[in-house]
Formats: sequence, structure tokens, C-alpha cells
Amino acid sequence: MANLKESERLDKVLANEGFGTRKEVKRIIHSGAVVVNGESILQESAHVNVYKDEIVVEGKKLETKRNYHFMMNKAAGYVCSTKSDSHKIVYDLLSDEDARRFVATGSISMVGRLDADTEGLLILTTDGNLNHRLTSPKYNIPKKYQVTLRDSVDGKTQEDYTARVAAGIHIAAEGKAPEADCRPAVVEWKSSEVCFITVTEGMFHEVKRIFAALGNEVIHLKRVQINGLVLDPALASGEYRELTEEELSVLDVQPIV
Ligand code: URA
Repeated sequence: MANLKESERLDKVLANEGFGTRKEVKRIIHSGAVVVNGESILQESAHVNVYKDEIVVEGKKLETKRNYHFMMNKAAGYVCSTKSDSHKIVYDLLSDEDARRFVATGSISMVGRLDADTEGLLILTTDGNLNHRLTSPKYNIPKKYQVTLRDSVDGKTQEDYTARVAAGIHIAAEGKAPEADCRPAVVEWKSSEVCFITVTEGMFHEVKRIFAALGNEVIHLKRVQINGLVLDPALASGEYRELTEEELSVLDVQPIV
């Protein structure tokens, strides 16, 4: 499992936690005020693990304010909801330990929703601001889906689909969701039944309604990318892992508003 860097320099951790500049933090460490797992640490270059080590500074236990971000390869059959009487929920895919840490405490949330039968990339995060940046339509975050269609589409019809979606297709109302004009979106064809579509909104059943408006039907849907973050092909259906720092930075690139 790839993780955010677990071991970090003590001076960097304390500076990140607001104890002052690296120079000020160094002074605190040299004064003997920092105790890690019961042992006084005098070197600023010592490495600590903020997830596992007990770090006490001037007699006070350090509660790190870091956020947690996970990528999940959502399995079909799980709903993106905090409870359901009829379905398993996405949080059921978390380990007992993560469920205790993040779900029981209410600290984690899903970034957008996928339908119960949709698979693929789902981000879970404790960072509400990140969640807002990724889901608010104002930020134009691209979300890419792999679509398998019921009816095979010939070359000319593929061009027609692509052009109509690029122009901003009108979709019919469904349930409580009103009819709407979609923003322009990008379709790329992989075969006569399989394509990718990249949308920048998150309307209810948006991808399914787009292909219904074209007279076809989505029979399999998988999200493969959000912004710069691509679903890790090594994650089996239902598996998840923490994002690396690099993945977080490509996920959270600042939007073109
Ligand atoms: N569009 C859909 O129709 N369903 C999803 O799950 C996501 C996007």
C-alpha cells in the first residue's frame, strides 16, 4: 500500500504544526522540550511518524491536524450513502480500523456520488475544503468515465455523438432531477461500444442521461479519472488505499474557473 510519507523530520513536523519557523523549532528541540515515545529527542533531524509515534512538546501531546485522503475502486452494488436498508454502503468496504477512526467519528466524507451500479474511482477524504473544490460545479473539475453502450455505434454515428455532446447536449428530467442542458463534454472512442466521456458537472445520472438522450443506453459505467488523478489499475474492485502526496497534488490542481 502506497502511503503519504510516514516518516518525517521532527523539525518539519513541528513547523507544520505551527510551533514556529524551522529555526524556532530547532531551539525548542534543543531545549529538551520534545519527547517522542517517552524519550527526549534533541536532534531536529530525527525522523518521526506522526501516525504512530507519541510526540509531546512542552508537556502537551501533539494532536496532528493532518487530513486523510483515500482512493477507492468502488465495487458495483455499494451505494454512496451513509446508510441504506437495502444495499451495502461504500463505507462497508473500509477496514474495521479505518471505519472506527473515520466513519464512527464522522470525519470522512465521499467526494461526489457514484450510482450503486457504477464502479471505479471514488475519493474519500477528511478535508471538507478539498471535497468542496472537487465537487462544486464552479471549479470545472473534469471527471472521466469509461462507458459501455448497449448498442454498437458506427463511425459516422460516433462523430455525431461526439459533436452533440461537445455542443452541450440537452438531457431529460429523471426523478427529481429536472431536464437540463449539459456543459460541453468530451467523448473519445475506444471501440464501437466503448468510449470515454469527460464531464465537468456532477448532475444526477448525468452520463446515463447523456447517452439516453443520444438514443442509446449505458450498460456499464466506471469512473477512471478525476482531474489529474487516474484510478490505480492495481486496485482490485472494492479495494482502497491512501493517496500519495503526488497523487494528491494532481487531484487538487487549482481549477481553471
Ligand atoms: N453519471 C452517471 O450516470 N452515473 C454515475 O454514477 C456517475 C455519473
